[in-house]
Amino acid sequence: MRVAIGSDHGGFKLKAEIIAYLKEHHIEYNDFGTYSLDSVDYPDFARAVAEAVAGGEFQRGILCCGTGIGVSIAANKVPGIRAALCHDTYSARMASEHNMANIITLGERVVGPGLARDIVAAWLNARFAGGRHARRLEKIAEIERSFNCK
Ligand code: RB5
Repeated sequence: MRVAIGSDHGGFKLKAEIIAYLKEHHIEYNDFGTYSLDSVDYPDFARAVAEAVAGGEFQRGILCCGTGIGVSIAANKVPGIRAALCHDTYSARMASEHNMANIITLGERVVGPGLARDIVAAWLNARFAGGRHARRLEKIAEIERSFNCK
């Protein structure tokens, strides 16, 4: 599995913490920035990670900003992306099992580093349950297709 990861300045330190987790667990990743605490615009990084995941080069993506909200909204504009904002481990597990979320988003100003690690682990280690959930994902994809045609 290859993971694309990115953040704005508001999520920069949390991104570093999650990268440390990925390294410790020998999970391959690419850091799409930002690379400093200088103020930047979160849609730029959300788009880069989301396109990398939607294009198939990476199987999963992780995005951080101050709240996790901005990067979630932006990433979900990219066709094929199901980005889930998760600040607890139950939601993170469900995001994989029920929603097959291919991106998780977190807010550095909301969760501490220890909880963020647990959230990422819960999401990465869970598997899509399929069945009725697959039918619902297909309905989401159909919504996406219907708007892309307009
Ligand atoms: C940046 O100050 C902040 O707005 C951003 O990191 C994020 O929280 C937006 O949703």
